[in-house]
Amino acid sequence: MKSLTTSLKLIAVFIASTQAGLRFPCSTLTTQRLDPAVQPGSIPSAHLHMIVGGNAFNSTMEGDVASRATCTTCQMAEDFSNYWVAHMYFRDPKNGSYHRVMPAPVQPLLGGSNGAQGGLTIYYTQFDLSKDNLKQQPVKTFPPGFRMTVGSPTQTGKPHAGLSYQCIQGGNRGTLVSQFPTTKCNGGIFTTHHFPPCWNGKDLDSPDHQSHMYNTVNSEYFNNAPKCPDSHPVRVPQVTFEITWDTTPFNSLWDPAKDGNPFLWSFEGNAAGTHADYMFGWKGDALQRAMDKSECFYDGCGSIKKQAMADANKCTVKDFVGEKIDGWAKYLPGMTTEHRPMKRGRAFEA
Ligand SMILES: *[C@@H]1O[C@H](CO)[C@@H](O)[C@H](O)[C@H]1NC(C)=O
Ligand SMILES: *[C@@H]1O[C@H](CO)[C@@H](O)[C@H](O)[C@H]1NC(C)=O
Repeated sequence: MKSLTTSLKLIAVFIASTQAGLRFPCSTLTTQRLDPAVQPGSIPSAHLHMIVGGNAFNSTMEGDVASRATCTTCQMAEDFSNYWVAHMYFRDPKNGSYHRVMPAPVQPLLGGSNGAQGGLTIYYTQFDLSKDNLKQQPVKTFPPGFRMTVGSPTQTGKPHAGLSYQCIQGGNRGTLVSQFPTTKCNGGIFTTHHFPPCWNGKDLDSPDHQSHMYNTVNSEYFNNAPKCPDSHPVRVPQVTFEITWDTTPFNSLWDPAKDGNPFLWSFEGNAAGTHADYMFGWKGDALQRAMDKSECFYDGCGSIKKQAMADANKCTVKDFVGEKIDGWAKYLPGMTTEHRPMKRGRAFEA
C-alpha cells in the first residue's frame, strides 16, 4: 500500500490566553472485531473496528480503565481512553472482492503527523474551535466507566448532524458532504465524528449508548454549543474524532462514471451508517486539569504529560479474535453475503 503524502492545508486558529481545549494524534492500537460498548463480551463482535488509545482495551470494559492500562497510543500520555470507528472497505466493482482501506497517518491541524501510524485525531473542545473561552462555558469531564456512541450502523439516508465526509484533493479537504464522495479523491476520504456535549449527569451509559447524552450539534462543523437542556444539564467536553482513509491505492480499480461509489463500511453499510464509540479512560483529573487551563489550548499543554509518537506506537494489545483481515477477500469479516460483480449501475447498494 502506498502511504498518503498529502499535506493538509492548515487552518489558522486564534489563540488567546483564556482558551482551553485539546487536539492530539492517537496511532492505531489494534484492528479487531471487538466492541466493549455496544457488544460487551462478544468475541468477535459483529463488524470490524479500528481502535486507538490505551492497552486496557478488551471485549468487556467496566470501571476505571486508567487503573488497568499501562500504555496508550495517544500523544497525551495520561489518556488511556479508547476511541474506535467502523473500518472502511473497498469493493472491487469488477469481481466483488473486498479489501480494507488503511487509515493514513493522522495529521492534527498545525501539528503534522509527528510519526503517528494510522489512527485518529482527537479533540476535546469547550465551546467551538475558535472561541474555547474558559469563561464562556465551564465543562465537567467524564467519570470513570463512562462511555457513549454517536451515529448508528442502521441509520439510512443521511448520517446524524456532525458526522461528515470530505474528499481530499490536492491537499484541500473540500466541501463537507453526508455521503461517500462519488469522485476519486487523490488525498483520501476524510471523516469527522462530533459527539454530543450534554450529559444527564447520572448514567455512565444507557441502553442505546446515546440517550444519556443530548446532542446540541446541529451542523457539520465545530460550531458553538448552545445551552444544555434541563434533561441533560451537565456540559462535558465536546469529543470529536477525525480520520483520513487512504483510498488512493484503489483509484486505478474503479470508474466513477460506470461504478458509482465502491467504498463501504465494515458492517456492509453505506455512508449514513458511520458511527464512533468513546470509552473514557483519562488518569485521575488529568483531562479536567487540561480543560481548565488556558495553557493547554490544543498542542501547548504544559501541565499535561505528552509522549513522543515513537513511544506511543509501541503500545499494543493482544489479538483476541485472531481472524485474517488483510488481502483480498470474498466476504467482509463476520459477514456472509457474497456480492457478485456488477455489470452496470452502482457497485454497492446498502
Ligand atoms: C480481558 O478481559 C477478561 C475478562 O474480563 C480478562 O480475564 C482478561 O485478563 C483481559 N485481558 C487483557 C489482556 O486485559
Ligand atoms: C479482484 O480484483 C482485485 C483487483 O484487481 C484482485 O487483486 C483480486 O485478486 C481479485 N479477486 C478475485 C477473487 O479474483
